[in-house]
Amino acid sequence: MSSPSPASEAPRSYTLAWVGSLLLIVGFLIGLLAFPPMYEAPKTEAPGMVLFIGRFHPILLHLPVGALGLLCLMELLCLSRRGEESLGAAALLTLWVGAAGSVMAVLAGIMLSREGGYEGGNFTLHQTLALVGTAGVLLALVVRLFSMSHANRDLMHAYRALFFSSFGLMGLGAHFGGNMSHGSKFLTEHAPEPLKSQMISVEKWMLSFVEKPKAEPAPPPPPAPEVPKPESTPAPVASAPTPTPPPPMTPAPETVSSGDKLVFQHVILPIFEAKCNKCHNEEKSKGDLRLDTYEVAMKGGENGNNIVPGKPEESLTIQRILLPLDDDEHMPPEGKEQVTPAELAAIRYWIQAGASANQKVSEAQFPAEAKEAVKL
Ligand code: HEC
Repeated sequence: MSSPSPASEAPRSYTLAWVGSLLLIVGFLIGLLAFPPMYEAPKTEAPGMVLFIGRFHPILLHLPVGALGLLCLMELLCLSRRGEESLGAAALLTLWVGAAGSVMAVLAGIMLSREGGYEGGNFTLHQTLALVGTAGVLLALVVRLFSMSHANRDLMHAYRALFFSSFGLMGLGAHFGGNMSHGSKFLTEHAPEPLKSQMISVEKWMLSFVEKPKAEPAPPPPPAPEVPKPESTPAPVASAPTPTPPPPMTPAPETVSSGDKLVFQHVILPIFEAKCNKCHNEEKSKGDLRLDTYEVAMKGGENGNNIVPGKPEESLTIQRILLPLDDDEHMPPEGKEQVTPAELAAIRYWIQAGASANQKVSEAQFPAEAKEAVKL
């Protein structure tokens, strides 16, 4: 009878695995050519079929999570020679399934983004990290396959490093996707304290790489008071445009000019800009509603009553935000970045206090819950 060892040492044929892997890579590339990732709102409406497929993104993404998650465990077992001998082929299959799932999820995600309204830091990080992670997993697949077909165990280490880091990037990217559908605080809100601030600052740090300064940035700080430093030429710190370093956890102390800031202009409008105006602006006014200036916000849309001064509960904007997430009329629609409780409290306060265009931040008495939304 065949003794097991010579059989398992005979070089196996990996033709099928190579064909499957190359098909996957070619499919990914063709998909990307047909639907190039974009970081700005699409100019034209995508065909219904594209949007239909796009909506499978939230389902498809579970496949790589499951398969590649399982693979992490398998790879630990494969660290030993015996583990690799008995599980290597299964790990390869699992890797292929996870890679295929990633490819499908990424392509569907890009199609979903064609609906419009997907922009901003969370989206940029989500799309970019998912793409990089998927490319990494595909490369890892090739390296594993190469290592197996050439019985090269050293390459296996390179493969594992590549796989684990790609999967890690993908996981980080997935987190920013979660922020888009569940709101930016979904994961951190109930995190235990020391961890919570760390998570938030890492998140902000990552976002600072990709977020453009807000449409109307706070006026630049007054020219730095001449530092008493007559010393000559401190080697010109040709600081490459490094992204902002991790922001300090404490808000900057009140700047001189903050006394002149207006509640609508500097607190409420930026919230509308960030959360509503992809759909309620000059070019695209869903429900006939625009929220990009004071006048148009007060005028309201199809149903009027958008902002009823002194009466937040009667204001359509508040009513829509308060509807349950899965209600068709909830704003922003499910899947878009949601208004945070602090932002809601700020908008509510502004309406309660008369929805004025001229109320100054320095004279406003925002409730404590609104604090986070009133950073100037
Ligand atoms: C992704 C696009 C999108 C985003 C983002 C969005 N909306 Fe809307 N909004 C719509 C669409 C579509 C309608 C029209 C259908 C409907 O009435 O539900 C609408 C309608 C409304 C209406 C009803 C207007 C009327 O008079 O009938 C209000 C109020 C509203 N949105 C407020 C908001 C607010 C406030 C935000 C941000 C916190 C927001 N929306 C974000 C798409 C969006």
